[in-house]
Amino acid sequence: MSHSHSNHHVHEETAENPVESEQFHLLKIITAFAYYKRHALNHNHRRRRDYYALPEHHKKLIPDYLEKLQQVDLCIEKNMDFIRDIVKSSSMFLDAPLAQQQEKLKSHQQSHQKPPVSPMDMDKVRSTLKQFVRDWAKIGEAERKATYDPIIEELNTLYKDLPTEKRGDVRVLVPGAGLGRLAFDIARSGFSCQGNEFSYFMLFASHFILNRVREQEQYEIYPFIHSFSNIKSDQKQLTPIKIPDVVPADLPSTVDFSMVAGDFTEIYIQDSNIGAWDVIVTCFFMDTAKNIIEYMEVIHKALKPNGKWINIGPLLYHFEDSSSGDSSIELSLESVKKVAQDIGFEFEKEKMISTTYTSNPDGMLNYVYDCAFWTAQKK
Ligand SMILES: C[S@@+](CC[C@H](N)C(=O)[O-])C[C@H]1O[C@@H](n2cnc3c(N)ncnc32)[C@H](O)[C@@H]1O
Repeated sequence: MSHSHSNHHVHEETAENPVESEQFHLLKIITAFAYYKRHALNHNHRRRRDYYALPEHHKKLIPDYLEKLQQVDLCIEKNMDFIRDIVKSSSMFLDAPLAQQQEKLKSHQQSHQKPPVSPMDMDKVRSTLKQFVRDWAKIGEAERKATYDPIIEELNTLYKDLPTEKRGDVRVLVPGAGLGRLAFDIARSGFSCQGNEFSYFMLFASHFILNRVREQEQYEIYPFIHSFSNIKSDQKQLTPIKIPDVVPADLPSTVDFSMVAGDFTEIYIQDSNIGAWDVIVTCFFMDTAKNIIEYMEVIHKALKPNGKWINIGPLLYHFEDSSSGDSSIELSLESVKKVAQDIGFEFEKEKMISTTYTSNPDGMLNYVYDCAFWTAQKK
């Protein structure tokens, strides 16, 4: 898979030079990955302290609890082995050798008196592990069937008259590609596909799984050990999740598969992307917008005449309650469709699809989204 790289990223660091600032941003994320083990072990240690503080007769009632905490420590080690390999494979994103860069970051942070990793970034590391279940584990299959299969089926229907060897000429774009499974499955179906993503948590992890992992079920991870809430069974919680379920290599030679780093609204409004795409697939993406109207405008411009926009997702506006002071325009489903029509889309197919997002299938809590699915054509 080819990988291109752009410096269109929004970040908080303020260095004199934008390239350097981009590099600091990458390092911040690498540092978050690197702190995973220490952070997770500390967290688990809190449970141990609370156990020791229990009255003796309570301790006797949960004779296996300490042993479970011990097991969780081992799971954290295993997760760290996996994360370490992701970080190793990410050095290609950095301009200078990793160690040298990390020194730079340390001194930068010390001079700004910042803690090494924000709680939000730590949370993103844990979410990245869960995202692997959605995209690359056998137990994520039900979620993928509900969400990705209708999209692939729609592509197959749209291009049913096109001979397989010609499908590589069809250019499909997947903005907000996450860990890349949908983009990969589209490419595996014979279409040329470009994923686009602006989070380096996702970009590092997808680069690793798509380019470095060579064997089915090569890794065992434990994404559900960080919270003990809503767990039905200790044994289930401590069961390893094997990834990947398929080896993400071996694509048909006729397809072009790539991942592009950067902000969708900045990249796909550039001349080379105007009227360039046959299909744009948005999956759990539209509600990541600060301004969903702008997203629709960019999609419309980037599509070829008569190009198709396939969408599936809820409208959980990411910036609605953000503390960052970012603006946020939150439209109802009705309004989104109305605006899409006014921009120049014609709706061809519409339905609702119920599905979870990065769920723990063995847990006691799962949010089910009633997602809007549609295919619309650029008029
Ligand atoms: C809710 S996730 C969905 C990921 C994937 N499509 C899936 O279904 O698993 C949304 C993704 O969009 C990415 N994203 C959000 N805003 C973006 C933007 N402006 N440009 C590129 N990617 C963006 C986020 O980093 C995140 O990975």
